[in-house]
Amino acid sequence: MTIQLFLNKKAHHQKISVITCYDYPSAKLVANTDIDCVLIGDSVAMTVHGFESTIHAHLDMMCLHTQAVARGIGKQFIVTDMPFLSHRKDTQTTVEHALKLLHSGANAIKIEGADEFTCGQIQHLVESGVPVMGHIGLQPQSILAYGGYKVQGRQPEQAKRLINQALRLQQIGCFAIVLECIPALLAGEISKQLQIPTIGIGAGAATDGQVLVWHDLLALQKEMTPKFIKIYCETGQQITEAVQAYHQEVVSGVFPGQEHSFE
Ligand code: KIV
Repeated sequence: MTIQLFLNKKAHHQKISVITCYDYPSAKLVANTDIDCVLIGDSVAMTVHGFESTIHAHLDMMCLHTQAVARGIGKQFIVTDMPFLSHRKDTQTTVEHALKLLHSGANAIKIEGADEFTCGQIQHLVESGVPVMGHIGLQPQSILAYGGYKVQGRQPEQAKRLINQALRLQQIGCFAIVLECIPALLAGEISKQLQIPTIGIGAGAATDGQVLVWHDLLALQKEMTPKFIKIYCETGQQITEAVQAYHQEVVSGVFPGQEHSFE
């Protein structure tokens, strides 16, 4: 998978599959699938580290998880999130941070937002040869400012703003854009107006691809279950049952059996 393939898939109306991935064993499992792209999302701060929001992700955390994923992944394209505020200081710092992520194994970086300052940083990175994925709609890094996880773009003026942001991100060179938590019709309209692919999460079926969080689709966490999540396997339940079975076999003396013991 390359950024050219993202564009080819859009041109040929082929959907793009993206899943978040945070560590080596999960990357090895994804490597055996046809998934197109893995995202080391800053959601790692919540899913893996147990923080309340993604604002707790930081550059070293993102680099460490990117390195682990890169060691295990197969043909999948690797995108890593620029964590909260890491692109907000100045262009030199943004470049240094992006470089650390690329040196950790990312093939591209994702940046939330499309305000003037952010667009300037994105444009500089793209012109410097860094593939950038945009991210508009619900921006979890702005949760403190939003005051909650809410669907974005329901009001006509908000919708128009999102369309303009998407066009601007395309114009400054993003190779794809994540659309998070926006009405399906609006996501379809944005996808129609763009030549680059849109990757939806809570944005309906008309986007050019979909992304889901590993822990959500495998039911490894059930604290936050927004409507757009689909559980493909009750892995969390299966793990709990397996660990409980192990505990019971240890305390009852069933494990280890003779077959697990040396002569
Ligand atoms: O951090 C993340 O997991 C993300 C996806 C929800 C798109 O940004």
